[in-house]
Amino acid sequence: MKFFIDTADIAEIRKAKAFGVLDGVTTNPTLVSKTGRKFEDVVREIFREVDGPISLEVMSPDARGMVEEAKRLKEYGENAVIKIPLSIPGLEAIKTLTGLGIRTNATLCFSPLQALLVAKAGASYVSPFVGRLDDNAHQGMELIGQIRQIYDNYGFPTEILVASVRHPLHVLDAALIGADVATIPYAVFEKMAKHPLTDAGIKAFEADWAKVPG
Ligand code: E4P
Repeated sequence: MKFFIDTADIAEIRKAKAFGVLDGVTTNPTLVSKTGRKFEDVVREIFREVDGPISLEVMSPDARGMVEEAKRLKEYGENAVIKIPLSIPGLEAIKTLTGLGIRTNATLCFSPLQALLVAKAGASYVSPFVGRLDDNAHQGMELIGQIRQIYDNYGFPTEILVASVRHPLHVLDAALIGADVATIPYAVFEKMAKHPLTDAGIKAFEADWAKVPG
């Protein structure tokens, strides 16, 4: 399973990278705006830091505009993956970009049929938003299971990128279902590494070690 970090904050990216388990980055317009910095400055810095896939989102409403924007975003680096909102123009853009050999991440996926459509169009990744579904009293993880089954039934190579992750249980459930990737906020990365029994154990070992005659 691959781990991406869901942020445009370079300090968070550096901290997660230091864990040694970071495979890529996902950004979105909200995450970029939270940095208060210019898009270009933020993105250049991320590309200097990370070699793995970096998702950058298009803002054009129509397919032609999405494709042109994607070509420009691709200039930031070979590892750029173009995030396309799951819409009818988005499907058209994914099909065109796939034909041009440009990798895409179909974002804002909330149904298994949307996921089936983008797999047929050739998307490299599909991003189902589990947290936003949970927020609206739907079972986000049920969607991950359905997409896994559909993709396995037909051998679609599109990778399931679990997004809108809110807590470590989302990552655990995604791993148990067999999702390919989870994109994780930095705070959740930290929580995944921690356990109160580990902290208590370290403290007890330190105390006992101090009693060992030197
Ligand atoms: C995915 O790529 C998105 O950036 C992200 O996971 C959205 O999550 P949110 O629902 O916390 O905004």
